Amino acid sequence: MPDNAWKAIEDHELKQLDELFAGDPGRVGRFSREVAGIYFDWSKTHLDSGLLDAFEALAQEKAFGPARDALFAGGIVNPTEGRPAEHVAERGSGGADAVQLAAERRSRTRALVDAIEGGAFGPVTGILHIGIGGSVLGPELLVDALGRSESKFTVSFLSNIDPHALTQAIEDLDPATTLVVGASKTFTTSETLANLSAAIDWLRRAGVADPYGRVIAVTAAPAAAVEAGIDESRILQFSEGVGGRYSLWSAVSVAVALALGWNAFEELLEGAAEMDRHFRFSDAADNIPLIAAFADLLYTQKLKCGTRGIFPYDGRLRLLVPYLQQLDMESNGKSVTAAGKPVGRPTAPITWGGVGTDAQHAVFQLLHQGTAVIPVEFVAIAEDDSALPDHHRQLLLNAFAQGAALMRGSASDDPHRSYAGNRPSSTILLDRLDPRTLGALIAFYEHRTFANAVLLGVNPFDQFGVELGKQIARQLAEGEGGGDLDPSTRALMERAGL
Ligand code: F6P
Repeated sequence: MPDNAWKAIEDHELKQLDELFAGDPGRVGRFSREVAGIYFDWSKTHLDSGLLDAFEALAQEKAFGPARDALFAGGIVNPTEGRPAEHVAERGSGGADAVQLAAERRSRTRALVDAIEGGAFGPVTGILHIGIGGSVLGPELLVDALGRSESKFTVSFLSNIDPHALTQAIEDLDPATTLVVGASKTFTTSETLANLSAAIDWLRRAGVADPYGRVIAVTAAPAAAVEAGIDESRILQFSEGVGGRYSLWSAVSVAVALALGWNAFEELLEGAAEMDRHFRFSDAADNIPLIAAFADLLYTQKLKCGTRGIFPYDGRLRLLVPYLQQLDMESNGKSVTAAGKPVGRPTAPITWGGVGTDAQHAVFQLLHQGTAVIPVEFVAIAEDDSALPDHHRQLLLNAFAQGAALMRGSASDDPHRSYAGNRPSSTILLDRLDPRTLGALIAFYEHRTFANAVLLGVNPFDQFGVELGKQIARQLAEGEGGGDLDPSTRALMERAGL
């Protein structure tokens, strides 16, 4: 495949950010868009119209349009596993059959939610959601962001095999009135199975007569859940084509639907569907997930930035960063193309970040004066729904001030007090934090990851890189593999008495 477009991007001379603004009074208007309650401003990145043209040519060259059509038509966009990627069908945007199946399964989930609310499981005051990776990061983000305080139940999340995690997860729950949700796409994940069995023991020890009867399983592998002792009537299924890190739109979020109400869950899906329509039907020049991917690639490919920082200026979005770490790094942290050839260029940057304003007092020194240029994304909420409007105002002012400072810099004769400036950032300003807008935001990030993958030529929907460590842990647990174990690992095992 010719790589003319990459060459044009590489040859393009970058202007300083202040020059870009000085040379174009309409820059903010042309380099920002509002979609589904999300205002995305990429004017403080180094993208200019020449670069946008070059990236659009790259999208043409990499057949981005057909790849996107295939995603929404249920085509095999995950070739290494021979599958479609059906998360878009969960919100009504995919191929007709997948959309219908997802809707049928959603009705089952709703019926179960209604039954629980109607008292079919007796009094319920708590939900213990057990899952790991994509089977927990999304639901926990949603419950955290949209209001634990508004939740009708005490919702607790347990993922790690760390025994202290279990103790913490159950400390506010009453075993007599708690339902356990075991979420696992494969229902083979060792941490989830071990925690599920420990939770069942906890119920039994507390005198619950039928502890298995208090468990709801959510999985793409119902036979494995039956094998684990869960009755079919309490198994909620989702499709094999829905990747773990893309699964929060499915029954994996049953705890969210219980905590926040069914309407909130539906609104989340509608917000995502609105972003789907935007991504699917907008031209490149208006398409915010695609443009965000252009900016990502500008920094990873042209400026060789190895990381990107994401800073929500709202504590309710504190779990956005770990969520996005899995979404982008598990999707695009690859070294070979979908066809198995070396990709030959950097792929996913390391996603990291923190919550503003706390992060300003901890890691922003490096953003302003460190040697690495790190593209930063600020995520803030315009509407104040707090009882402290001045705090909210200060929060927003701080977010905006940081973007301005990174770009503007400040010269000084004293090198210690000098800021180089010209440091890029983008800002996402949500009208408000509600299920619809959050759904659109998460779908925005999903599509941005997909667009990055298509332009890099990698398959974002597999994750074989996580398997080897699991396999060795299994071997060690079974007392195998000692013979070919390296001396350092063997010494660690001995020292820990394993
Ligand atoms: O080990 C990585 C991974 O497979 C993720 O891709 C996935 O989200 C997580 O583990 C949990 O997997 P499961 O939902 O099958 O338990």
